[in-house]
Amino acid sequence: MEIANLADNEKDQANMSKFLKYYTVFKNAPVLVLVYAKPYKTVEYKILKDKPECKELYNMATSSQAEIQTIGAAVENLLLAAANMGYGACYMTGPVHSRDKIYEVMGHDETKGELMALIPVGVPEDSSAPQPPRLPLEDVVTFID
Ligand SMILES: Cc1cc2nc3c(=O)[nH]c(=O)nc-3n(C[C@H](O)[C@H](O)[C@H](O)COP(=O)(O)O)c2cc1C
Repeated sequence: MEIANLADNEKDQANMSKFLKYYTVFKNAPVLVLVYAKPYKTVEYKILKDKPECKELYNMATSSQAEIQTIGAAVENLLLAAANMGYGACYMTGPVHSRDKIYEVMGHDETKGELMALIPVGVPEDSSAPQPPRLPLEDVVTFID
């Protein structure tokens, strides 16, 4: 609730309060996968990091947030495999706000990286829940002939 109180408009405040309940939906899951990422040092990073005179090139060549991208595909593969096996799973980053508490419970070895996401996995109680509406494909993909 503290973040909601910091919003400078009612819409953001209401949205923050509304989404808060989605940060704890993992609590009854029988299995919880914790996803960690280590810094992903690209060769561009290694070459340019100590060269302040190349700051612009550094920003251009290291802007792809590589460590986040390393988990995106892995999480998606896990979600697809779980769905294929009849399980329900959810990509969650909301609970990572409580990273320090989670480290306290789980222990934390910094060499293993930083907690990025949680994936509760279980047998869905109800698969008939309505799916959120989808944007038309043309609104999210640009096809170039
Ligand atoms: C990076 C990321 C973080 C998310 N974090 C949460 C979360 O903390 N809690 C939650 O209920 N849903 C979260 N979601 C949304 C669900 O994982 C899922 O995307 C949503 O239920 C709807 O599915 P859809 O993305 O296929 O529309 C997150 C999604 C993404 C991509």
